[in-house]
Amino acid sequence: MELDLNMLKPQERVSLQLRLLYEQSGFRKYHMSRFEEYGLYQENRRFLSSEQVITFTDLDGRLLALKPDVTLSIAKNARVEQGGCGRYYYAENVYRPSQASHTFREISQMGLECIGAVDDAVMTQTLFLALKSLALTGREFVLELSHMGFVTGLFDAVGAPESIRPRLLTCIRDKNRHELQKTAAEAGLSRQGTDALCRLDTLAGPWERVAEAAEPLALNASMGAALAELKGLCQALEQQGQTEKLKVDLSLVNDMDYYNGLVFQGYLAGAPRAVLRGGRYDPLAGQFRPGARAIGFALYLDELDAPAAPAPGGGRAMVNVALPKGRLGDKVYDLLAGVGYGCPENYSDTRKLVVENPAAGIRYFLVKPSDVAIYVEHGAADIGIVGKDILAESGADVYELLDTGLGRCRMCVAGPKDFADDPGRTLRVATKFVNIAKSYYAAQGRDIDIIKLNGSIELAPILGLSDVIVDIVETGTTLRENDLQVLTEFMPISARFIANRASYQFKHAEIEALLRKLAEVTEQ
Ligand code: PRP
Repeated sequence: MELDLNMLKPQERVSLQLRLLYEQSGFRKYHMSRFEEYGLYQENRRFLSSEQVITFTDLDGRLLALKPDVTLSIAKNARVEQGGCGRYYYAENVYRPSQASHTFREISQMGLECIGAVDDAVMTQTLFLALKSLALTGREFVLELSHMGFVTGLFDAVGAPESIRPRLLTCIRDKNRHELQKTAAEAGLSRQGTDALCRLDTLAGPWERVAEAAEPLALNASMGAALAELKGLCQALEQQGQTEKLKVDLSLVNDMDYYNGLVFQGYLAGAPRAVLRGGRYDPLAGQFRPGARAIGFALYLDELDAPAAPAPGGGRAMVNVALPKGRLGDKVYDLLAGVGYGCPENYSDTRKLVVENPAAGIRYFLVKPSDVAIYVEHGAADIGIVGKDILAESGADVYELLDTGLGRCRMCVAGPKDFADDPGRTLRVATKFVNIAKSYYAAQGRDIDIIKLNGSIELAPILGLSDVIVDIVETGTTLRENDLQVLTEFMPISARFIANRASYQFKHAEIEALLRKLAEVTEQ
């Protein structure tokens, strides 16, 4: 009897096909046990995506962990001949905390690692296999490629201090031009330096076009070398007819501690986040064998069984917008309607939660303001408009493409007029914004107790429930009328235009057109 692969779930079918592909390409299977010595992860914490690891003491007294990662183990145990390159693939479950559910999740990963003498041929083969792996899913896909050397070289060239590089990197990664400008200005970077950083997000598209546009911006040897390596790899892939689904985006950046060269990410149409991530990670490989180089990628198989988003009707991609119910949403809708994105049906006249205009290619979902970022991060909506307070609190992994300037206010610490902080005592803080408050005080090393409330926060210090509050202040009227005052202002707030990372790949032209028109009618 012949096995019909189509009977299998996508995840099962693809994992069988990937095994065959990797075996035929000369990779050996690497097998891990479910439990590993915790010491390995503890000593190499900086290379893990999260420091939270599930541990337990085995019956023989050893502290073990449910593995959070596979690469670390391969980097340590790979058998590599002198001057050679060890090639391994794996299919394993890892256990990591999920920000969405606040619980640990079991994640099915399949991937490959090359360790030792990684040269251009090994890198080309890895990229080739990443493209082939995505193609095997049978879905529309894009592989985005970039090089950390270009960005770190640019940081050197513009004199960006080490202390602000992680913040700059986050802004670049989120395509958040407005915060990037602000951060660069605060760090005293020159106008030209700031402009050069902001130009990174325009360096995206087919590799030849990006390479040409980036050439004049290569300000030092490190940027030049990064660009030359990228070009060489793209040329090699071009010769193999593999560049159709390849896109270079020099604003694709990743953790600087982990990745030191090529970085790449794969997206499938209908999957809300990158399903493949990889790059060069020499620092980790060098930890176990000095001088070793390494490259690899992981494919997140769980994403393959999720139903793909419905195909756009009429051949045109509809842009799905998460619109916050209320004043801000109404204002944004009016602006969009004014530039051609209105709907025949007025949502305020009905209780409908979805209104659309297929001719304009737009569909609005009316959602609670605090849920906008969730809809967008999970791909239920392609784009959304959300207050920076809610966005920062949610920690949603989305692009932040525009500061609309609407709904301006600020995040503050406020308290009674006669409040004097006693550093010897734990500070009691009432707030709706638990994560924002925690990270604000953690940055100062101040010990706090959080009291989470859902509204009328100003009551807390009045009734002695808390010492201070962390809340948004717009006109200041609520504070004044309740005999409270602002003690510190620490985060300017306004409504931001956000986009799902995968939607931005597949509905790029539509989202960019809407963004341009919205930018023209907002004050930015
Ligand atoms: C917000 C915030 C403050 C008030 C600030 O509350 O929590 O209470 O607005 O505005 P002001 O500075 O102009 O007075 P919201 O109206 O959202 O109600 P809530 O108390 O239910 O959170």
